[in-house]
Amino acid sequence: MATKTTENKDNSPVKDSSATAETAASASKKNIQADNASVNENEMKNSPLHKFFVSALKDIYFAENAIIDALDKMQEAATTEELKEAFEDHQFQTKKHVSRLEKVFKLIDETPEKKECKAIKGIIEEGEEIIKSTEEGSMTRDAALIIAAQKVEHYEIATYGGLAQLAITMGHDKAADLLEKTLQEEEDTDYDLTEIAETYINFDAEQEE
Ligand SMILES: [Fe+2]
Ligand SMILES: [Fe+2]
Repeated sequence: MATKTTENKDNSPVKDSSATAETAASASKKNIQADNASVNENEMKNSPLHKFFVSALKDIYFAENAIIDALDKMQEAATTEELKEAFEDHQFQTKKHVSRLEKVFKLIDETPEKKECKAIKGIIEEGEEIIKSTEEGSMTRDAALIIAAQKVEHYEIATYGGLAQLAITMGHDKAADLLEKTLQEEEDTDYDLTEIAETYINFDAEQEE
C-alpha cells in the first residue's frame, strides 16, 4: 500500500508540472508585453519617489486653492490700481494652475486631493499681518504686499521647478510640460511684481511719513 501511494505521487506530479510549465510558457509568450507593462506600472506606483511626488502634488494643490482666497483679500487691501490689477490677473492664472494640477493627477492615474501645506498657510498669515499693520491707502502697504506676494511666488517656483524635474526623471513627459507651464507663469509674476514695485510703489513709499 505504502509503495503504490509513493509511485502514484511520484508519477502524477511530474506529468502535471511539465504540463503546467508548457501552458505557462505559452501564456507568458502571448502576454509578455502586457504583463511587463502592468508589473512596471505597479512597481512605479509603489516606489518611494512616486509616493513623494503624489504627496507633493497634494501639497501644492492645497496651496494653490488657498492662494486663490488670499489674492481676494490682497486685491481688496492694495492701494494702487497697478497692484490690484496684478493680483486680479494672477488670481485668474492661479485658477488655471489648479485645473492644470488636476490634469497632472489624472495623467499619473491619481485622484486630486488637498494635503494641508503649513508653509503656504504661514506665508499667507504673514500677508494678513501686513494688511493689519500698514495704513490703508498707503504706498508702504503696497510695497509690503508685493514682498508678501513674492514670498508666495518663490514657494511656488521652488515647488514647480522640483516637481517638473521629477516628472521628467520618472518619464511623465505630459505632466512635466504642464508643471513647467505653471512654473513659467509663477516666474513671470515674480518678475512683474518687481517691475511694479520699482516703477510705481517703492519711491512713493519711501516719501511717506
Ligand atoms: Fe500658482
Ligand atoms: Fe503664483
